[in-house]
Amino acid sequence: MHKLVCAAFLLLLSSSTIGDSGVPCYESIFSFGDSFADTGNNPIVFQWYSIFDPVTRPPYGNTFFGRPTGRNGDGRLIIDFIAEKLGLPYVPPTLAHNGSFRQGANFAVGAATAVDAGFFHERGIPGAPSKFPLNTSLGVQLEWFESMKPSLCRTARECEEFFGKSLFFVGELGVNDYHLFFQKKMVEEVMSLVPHVVATISMAIERLIMEHGARNLVVPGVIPSGCSPPILAKFADASQAAYDSRTGCLKEYNELGLRHNSLLQAALAKLRAKHRDVMIVYADFFGPIMEMVESPRKFGFEEDVLRVCCGGPGRYRVNATVPCGDAAATTCRRPSARLYWDGVHLTEAANRHVADRWLAQMDAFGRAGCKKQSLS
Ligand SMILES: *[C@@H]1O[C@H](CO)[C@@H](O)[C@H](O)[C@H]1NC(C)=O
Ligand SMILES: *[C@@H]1O[C@H](CO)[C@@H](O)[C@H](O)[C@H]1NC(C)=O
Ligand SMILES: *[C@@H]1O[C@H](CO)[C@@H](O)[C@H](O)[C@H]1NC(C)=O
Repeated sequence: MHKLVCAAFLLLLSSSTIGDSGVPCYESIFSFGDSFADTGNNPIVFQWYSIFDPVTRPPYGNTFFGRPTGRNGDGRLIIDFIAEKLGLPYVPPTLAHNGSFRQGANFAVGAATAVDAGFFHERGIPGAPSKFPLNTSLGVQLEWFESMKPSLCRTARECEEFFGKSLFFVGELGVNDYHLFFQKKMVEEVMSLVPHVVATISMAIERLIMEHGARNLVVPGVIPSGCSPPILAKFADASQAAYDSRTGCLKEYNELGLRHNSLLQAALAKLRAKHRDVMIVYADFFGPIMEMVESPRKFGFEEDVLRVCCGGPGRYRVNATVPCGDAAATTCRRPSARLYWDGVHLTEAANRHVADRWLAQMDAFGRAGCKKQSLS
């Protein structure tokens, strides 16, 4: 315990700008990921591929922004709540924003995979006529970041200093890799993909640290896919034994997520041992969602917690032909009383809870340290 506190204190001294109250802890936020983090890139990418993107229509954005922003949700995402808390602007989506990226850039794209698209195409996943996965993997997002770099800083030293005072989000990634494979393979087979997905994320982190001077990273794990309404609807099992009787979630799909998260945490432990002066926070995505599924009332959610707020007819209110954003879709009266918004994505109310948990996990590492520092 004592050792941990010391380590956190050292990190605080070495890696964050300790400002007076009101001064942001970090100069900027850089984000890589998929729809859980995408603040507006997916409509642009979907347009490149001529894919209809329902998030460009109401009721997306109704709860908070008052209009669709390209976010997969009714309002703010986890990263929006964290940006607010750190005193930084909402992280602008790089493909949709015409302005400065000095205070942050969001490369995350809805539907993005960790692993490059070619890996899936070679294996016939998910199969024609699907255009997914698109060319927006973590590796591609890193390339976008590297192309932007000359506009952010000039000399190697200036860049290291700037990125050293930035916060990097790597993920969540992996959910789309697995969900694409689920369409063609048994969960058991998909399990064998986990080490490859985790290694891809781990290598990206290494590259950000070694080549760009990242010193503050947050790496979220994956969600419990077995509780995700689209997975529940698509892979409904005749056998009651497939379900966790307490929650109604599909056990095998959750086990895959647990496996990913456990390998990811082991990989992060290795990276921490190698880069002792770098803050690498594992952000638990699985746990907070399970808590909300298990005790919906505690969070102000309705009892039938696995139903989405916005969707079409069907169990869980998920229907592939009537997605949220479609004219025939219906929206629940109180999104704040629901965990799931449109499918895999969470409502703003749920995102707020997850953000609080991640901020606490960052605090444990001394992140966000500047607030504490100004109090003492
Ligand atoms: C970006 O903003 C500049 C200055 O406001 C403007 O001249 C330019 O046309 C904009 N570009 C796009 C693609 O919107
Ligand atoms: C994917 O995008 C990257 C970066 O924009 C590009 O270098 C690469 O050629 C693209 N790959 C394919 C298969 O389109
Ligand atoms: C999905 O919606 C369509 C159109 O309303 C309906 O015909 C179909 O039965 C629904 N599917 C399920 C599984 O309920």
